[in-house]
Amino acid sequence: MSVNVVILAAGQGKRMQSTLPKVLHPLAGLPLLSHVLTTARALNPTHICVVYGHGGEQVPNALRAPDLSFVKQEPQLGTGHALQQALPLIDARKDTLVLYGDVPLIAATTLKALCAGSGERLRILTAEVADPVGYGRIVRNDINAIIAIIEEKDATDIQRCIAEINTGIMLLPGKRLASWLERLSNRNAQREYYLTDVVALAVKDNFRIESCTPDDPSEILGVNSMRQLAELECIQRQRNANRLLDAGVALADPLRIDVRGDLRCGRDVRIDVNCVFEGSVDLGDNVVVGANCILRNVNIGATTRVEPFSFIDDAMIGKNCRIGPYARIRPGTKLAADVHIGNFVEVKAADIGIGSKANHLSYIGDTTIGRNVNVGAGTITCNYDGVNKHRTVIEDNVLIGSDVQLVAPVTVHAGATIAAGATITKDVQAGELALTEKKQIVKPGWQRPVKKR
Ligand code: UD1
Ligand code: CA
Repeated sequence: MSVNVVILAAGQGKRMQSTLPKVLHPLAGLPLLSHVLTTARALNPTHICVVYGHGGEQVPNALRAPDLSFVKQEPQLGTGHALQQALPLIDARKDTLVLYGDVPLIAATTLKALCAGSGERLRILTAEVADPVGYGRIVRNDINAIIAIIEEKDATDIQRCIAEINTGIMLLPGKRLASWLERLSNRNAQREYYLTDVVALAVKDNFRIESCTPDDPSEILGVNSMRQLAELECIQRQRNANRLLDAGVALADPLRIDVRGDLRCGRDVRIDVNCVFEGSVDLGDNVVVGANCILRNVNIGATTRVEPFSFIDDAMIGKNCRIGPYARIRPGTKLAADVHIGNFVEVKAADIGIGSKANHLSYIGDTTIGRNVNVGAGTITCNYDGVNKHRTVIEDNVLIGSDVQLVAPVTVHAGATIAAGATITKDVQAGELALTEKKQIVKPGWQRPVKKR
C-alpha cells in the first residue's frame, strides 16, 4: 500500500507503574509495539516510522530493523508534536497512516479499509463505545458530517455524552499534512499539540472528512495500565484458541492455553490444559500434549505423545515418540522416531536414534546415541570436567544398566553391555560387557543402631 505509517510510541505510560517503556511490555510473549509493527508490515507501506521518547533508547534497541526508522520526540508535547517529528523522514507525496504503539490488536483488514478508496480526504477510525470516558469525542453537525474532535478535558458536559470516540488511528493526506501540523496550537486544557485538531483545520480548508469503524470492537483497545494489558492478553488468548479450534485442534479448555508465538498443528492434535507454546512450534498429525507442558521452538513428529509436566526447549522430536511425564529436553536435542524419554530425564544437545529409550532419572548431555539403545535408570553422562564439555557416543543396540556413569569423552561401541553401577572411563568395544567391580561385603548378625533415650 502506498502510504507512510507513523507509529506513535513516545508516551510515558505512567499508569503502568513500571520502568519499562509501555510499548515494550509483552502481550502474548511479544512487545506491544511488535504487534503493531507486524500489522503495519502486512500493509506493505512505503515507509514505517516509530516515534519514541520515554525510556531512552530502549525502544529502538529492542526493535531495530532495516525497514524501520526511529525518531526521538523529546520533550513529548502531544500527538500532533509527535507526528511533526516524523515529517522529515516520511514521503511527503504519500498519505500517512497514524497508528499507536499501545493499541496492539488493530487488524490489517480494518486498516486496509481505512486506507481504501482514492481522492483527497482525511479518514478517521472511530467507534461507538459504552464508556467513552477519557477518549476524544467525535463531534458531527446536523448532516452528520464530522466537524471536530474534542478531548475529554476540553469537552463540554453535552459533548461528553457523545458515545462516538476517536480511536486515534487516522489517514492523513500527504498534501496537507505539513501545513496542518504547522498550524496546530497548544491552547487547550493539556497545553499539548493535539493531532486531533487537524479535523477543525480540515473543516476550515473545506477538506473532505470521512470515518470508518473497525470490524471487531476489541481492536481499538489501548493499554494504559497493567489491568488493561491483562484484559488484552485474555482477548488474544481467546483469539488464538478460537483459531486453533477452527483448524480442528482439540483443546481441553480454550481458556487455558497460551500461545506466545506461532503454533502450527496438523490434523487431530489434542492439547490438554495449561500448556504454553513459545516461539515457533510445529505439532504433527495426531500429536497429544498432556497437561502443564511448555514447548518452545519445537518441532514434534506425528503421533508423538508429550505426557504432562514436560518442558521441551529448542528441539526436534521425531514421530511416534513418548516424552515425559516430567521430562526436560533442552536446546540442541534431536530425537529420531520411536524414542522414549521418561520421567525426570534431562536431555541436552543429544542426538538419539530410532527406538532408543531412557525412561527414568537420567542426564544425557552432549551425547550421540544410536538405534535401539536402552539407557538404564539413573544413568549419567559426565560431560563436564570442570573446564570443558566432552561428548559421549553410544552406538546401536547398546544396553546400559542402571546407575551408570559414562565419563566423557568416551565411546561405547555397538552391541556392548554395561553392567549396573559401572563407571565407564575408557571406550568399550563392540559386543563386550563392561563392569566396574564393587565387592559386596556382608556383616552377619548386624544390629541397627537404636535411638538414645
Ligand atoms: C489520544 C487522542 C484521543 C483518542 C485517544 C485514543 C489526541 C490529542 N488525543 O488521547 O482523541 O481518543 O488517543 O486512545 O491525539 N504519544 C506520543 N507523544 C506524545 C503524546 C502521545 O508519542 O507527546 C503517543 C503515546 O505513546 C500513545 C499515543 O500517542 O501511543 C496516544 O497518546 P495518549 O497520551 O494515550 O493520548 P490520549 O490522551 O489518550
Ligand atoms: Ca491513551
